Amino acid sequence: MLLILVLPAYLANASPVILGGGAPVDLGRKFFDGRRIFGDGKTWRGLIGGIATGTLAGALLAFLVLGAPYSVYSSSAQYVTAAFLMSCGALFGDLAGSFVKRRTGMKPGRPYILLDQLPFIIFALLFLAPFGLLPALSLLDWLIILVATLVLHPATNWVAHKLGWKKVPW
Ligand code: CTP
Ligand code: MG
Repeated sequence: MLLILVLPAYLANASPVILGGGAPVDLGRKFFDGRRIFGDGKTWRGLIGGIATGTLAGALLAFLVLGAPYSVYSSSAQYVTAAFLMSCGALFGDLAGSFVKRRTGMKPGRPYILLDQLPFIIFALLFLAPFGLLPALSLLDWLIILVATLVLHPATNWVAHKLGWKKVPW
């Protein structure tokens, strides 16, 4: 089931909003263009916390759905490994998105349609492939995942903003 597959990636992407803070990943350093590499919105705590949360979600998921007909994987080790890889991919994709945003001169927190929502989920899934943990997805599956992410990402950010966890509603 698609939601079970992507859930660790979603949690890895969302948790830095709560867990983030402190030293930025780029440690304040600038790229050749004189602009920040990633900016203050990408922190080490967010990075490590996101990977840890996503991986933990995989362990929990294994506990809950292993053996069920809609289970994606057939062992706990696969769930945890896949969740770890997806989390790394999600945080990598998120960093890549910020890297591109900074190159355009955009300040952290400014919205960028598609680049804010999609790199994390695409990289999360792609990171599974070299390890043989990416399930066979049809074109429709990919479309569902991308469209669902495009809807869920702004929706969860809006909720996080209302709860006072996030400065901006996107
Ligand atoms: N965050 C973090 N570390 C990360 C990713 C996110 O600490 N690796 C936290 C930051 O507090 C960030 C918030 O989560 O402000 C929201 O993340 P996001 O919207 O991805 O970052 P932005 O601040 O919008 O920065 P950017 O313009 O680079 O996307
Ligand atoms: Mg943002």
